Amino acid sequence: MTATLSRPAAGPSAGHVQRDDAEILSRDALVALQTKRLSQTLHRVYENVPHYRRAFDEKGVHPSDLRELSDLAKFPFTVKADLRDNYPFGLFAVPREEVARIHGSSGTTGKPIVVGYTQADIDMWAGVMARSIRAAGGRRGMMLHNAYGYGLFTGGLGAHYGAERLGCTVVPMSGGMTERQVQLIHDFRPEIIMVTPSYMLAILDEFVRQGLDPRKSSLKFGIFGAEPWTNAMREEIEQAFDMQATDIYGLSEVIGPGVAQECVETKDGLHIWEDHFYPEVIDPETGEVLPDGEKGELVFTSLTKQAFPIVRYRTRDLTRLLPGTARPAMRRMEKVTGRSDDMMILRGVNVFPTQVEEALLACDWCGGHFQIELTREGRMDQMTIRAEARPEAWDAGGHEERALKIVEIVKNTIGVTTRVVVEAPGALPRSQGKARRVYDNRPKD
Ligand code: DLL
Repeated sequence: MTATLSRPAAGPSAGHVQRDDAEILSRDALVALQTKRLSQTLHRVYENVPHYRRAFDEKGVHPSDLRELSDLAKFPFTVKADLRDNYPFGLFAVPREEVARIHGSSGTTGKPIVVGYTQADIDMWAGVMARSIRAAGGRRGMMLHNAYGYGLFTGGLGAHYGAERLGCTVVPMSGGMTERQVQLIHDFRPEIIMVTPSYMLAILDEFVRQGLDPRKSSLKFGIFGAEPWTNAMREEIEQAFDMQATDIYGLSEVIGPGVAQECVETKDGLHIWEDHFYPEVIDPETGEVLPDGEKGELVFTSLTKQAFPIVRYRTRDLTRLLPGTARPAMRRMEKVTGRSDDMMILRGVNVFPTQVEEALLACDWCGGHFQIELTREGRMDQMTIRAEARPEAWDAGGHEERALKIVEIVKNTIGVTTRVVVEAPGALPRSQGKARRVYDNRPKD
């Protein structure tokens, strides 16, 4: 079933918050809907995807064993290796001819992962994306500048169809050509921008380079995601542009962007669109399902997808589930501040790049451009943080004290000793999509 929008606001000035039918369900009604859809999904994959039939049989479970949502814990997980092993189309649950679109992600090594969508899947996706943009403050009639990359990456087209569904005027800019991005924002005057938070910082630099005041730009709402970012970064962007910044989450394997979205009126974590995506949080070591409120690895089961249904997919993203607020029936997930893959273990201490981001943004000389380099000296791992100074801070000098201050903050908050190098403005490469934060130059052993 497709998420249906209630009658959209009449124009850009219609400010009252709108909901679609699923957003106003009671929790009981939502659970009933989820149970029905989950059962249908389990039957669909068991009957149509050999991988799932084998995996269920090996675990001795059958789709009819699901009577209530908690029974899902009996079913096997799906992991990224299962997608690679079934490359390219082995996990599709419909004949290839019924697949309307393919997306994928290159990953860092080996074969890309491939996902598929029927026309109904694309409609559902547009529905949850429209809901996300609306929750972020977007309304019918607004203009939306879309700087997520178009192509196999789900960001560009996912945002595009959702924005059109909501009734926005879409500028399909994609990533890159930063000078042109700023020129078009200046000339077209969009209210909404969708882009990765790291690329938003590059756009901010370009505003300043062109002598434009970002606070006077037309942008009112920013919808940022596809990579971890912190509330300190939110503050940085909101202040720089005088705009509202919210977080959007998703992943190709589950659908793309629009799995969960922060509501602009509360900005307290992301509401999961639970009528289509069923979340669990597990202990990453034991695989045991954790109660809401406990932190662990996020796992998703799609409830309505046709071409590429997915059962208990281990995202590797670390978060916890919290009760709904702005959308009371839909649970929230806490902002994802790291994935288990990004975790660095330095002399026994777990470190995430977002912790470094937070430490840097606690000092006002650094605008948020940074890199982390890992090296080995003798038998000791070393972490070096390269952090770019803002132009005014660079000119003022005093880099030595600034570096020492960060060393101290990192030691006190994260618990590791690091080196800090203050870099000149513009010294570090700019991201045009997902930022690469960590450069691991330790010998591979
Ligand atoms: O990044 C989909 C997306 C596009 C989401 C645009 C939001 C906006 P993938 O390339 O498959 O899909 O990467 C998915 O990115 O498992 C997380 O580790 C990370 N990620 C996505 N959104 C967030 C976020 C898209 N808001 C992977 N916060 C996920 C933290 C995020 N990490």
